Amino acid sequence: MCYAIPGKVIEIQEKTAVVSYFGETKKAISELSNLKVGDYIYAQGGFAIKIIPEKEALEILATWKETFFDLQETDLRLSRMDLEKKRIDRKAGLIFDKVLEGGKVTDSDLLYLLEIKNKETLELLYKTANFLRQKHLKNSCCVHGIIEFSNYCSQSCSYCGISTHNKDLGRYRMTKEEIYDAADQAINKYGFQALVLQSGEDKSYSIDDLCEIVSTIKSKWPCLIFISFGEVGVEGLRKLYKAGARGLLMRFESSNPRIYGELHPGRGLKSRIEHLEAAFQLGYLIITGGLIGLPGQTVQDLLNDILLTRRLKTEMYTFGPFLPHPKTPLAGMPPPPTKDVLKVLAVSRIADPVNAKILVTTGFETLESKARELGLMAGANSVMLNVTPEKFAKNYAIYPNRAHAGEGIQEQIDSTLALLYSIGRAPTDLGALLK
Ligand code: 5AD
Repeated sequence: MCYAIPGKVIEIQEKTAVVSYFGETKKAISELSNLKVGDYIYAQGGFAIKIIPEKEALEILATWKETFFDLQETDLRLSRMDLEKKRIDRKAGLIFDKVLEGGKVTDSDLLYLLEIKNKETLELLYKTANFLRQKHLKNSCCVHGIIEFSNYCSQSCSYCGISTHNKDLGRYRMTKEEIYDAADQAINKYGFQALVLQSGEDKSYSIDDLCEIVSTIKSKWPCLIFISFGEVGVEGLRKLYKAGARGLLMRFESSNPRIYGELHPGRGLKSRIEHLEAAFQLGYLIITGGLIGLPGQTVQDLLNDILLTRRLKTEMYTFGPFLPHPKTPLAGMPPPPTKDVLKVLAVSRIADPVNAKILVTTGFETLESKARELGLMAGANSVMLNVTPEKFAKNYAIYPNRAHAGEGIQEQIDSTLALLYSIGRAPTDLGALLK
């Protein structure tokens, strides 16, 4: 995990740089040919992105120093465990003790935690997850930007509002220039250092087009690019990596092959997993996860989803609620309750305490207005802001009434930073914009 403030390179071993942030060290892979010890850099997702002139870096660090430690103190205070365990389910209490002592948590322990019903015990589950997040990953919080550049999709996923089922949706496809403009704004006006480029499976962009988009953005502005174009094939992944993409966002949606098959006509879970495994082998950072509350899904399925996410060596967990879309075959099915989503976030943290970044998704915010704070206080440590130009974003209707629709980018940034600061978190993106 890296902060958005400049870090000082204190050691270089082959391609890995050791970077110091006010004495706290992190590692970053460097693809910058001229990097040397003593340089100040921005790093994202474990990659050194850009060298900053020393004078500029020192100025930014001077304004940050006090805030950096203030935020850490607030976070530490809010994540302390209250050792009183009144009305706590006894078995869950023993599992929490084991977790906190760093003991080995079994799959059946995780299943037990996912099945908690008692309110006080649930509160302690969230607190335990938050404690682990603070202990292992401190207070850094990823804030990536996402550009949704086309809502055309050739697939018929039965939950998705931009699938072929939705005949009434105004479809759009941004031109390359419009995509570059959006990326330019996100990076240079708003200060994002990591961007997700997402679209439906839109065959009108060839792999070469997608490569050109990635490489043009990378060559113009230093940043970390995640791609999210659906299944592009292993060769496609290889070409896109070569073009400069370093992350893949692709959910497996459900680890249950029967549910997966029912929801994705013409597709199978095997191919999905093969893409994710191949991407990891190629060097991509992986963002994946599943949908919570799908029809027919059991608690065991949710546990298997978490375990599959961990097995895929996922950099960032993305789990969101299933939200019924009226123009799809699953219209009218119920969404899950908030607590089911929080349980998955918290149990993900307990299953993968040391390295996982865990996202509070826009889907969760659409289900629950306090999702961000609740999720960040239950083990999560990442958010994504929509930086698609507003006139397009309103038609990226994967589910109805998306949270933050109609909010400007600056408005989203302001409210995100206000929330993060109030709970003692330091954004790993956008840091240079601190007011
Ligand atoms: N509810 C929740 N999430 C959805 N997605 C698509 N449709 C829905 C829905 N109805 C999610 C899928 C996909 C991501 C881009 O959007 O999980 O991976």
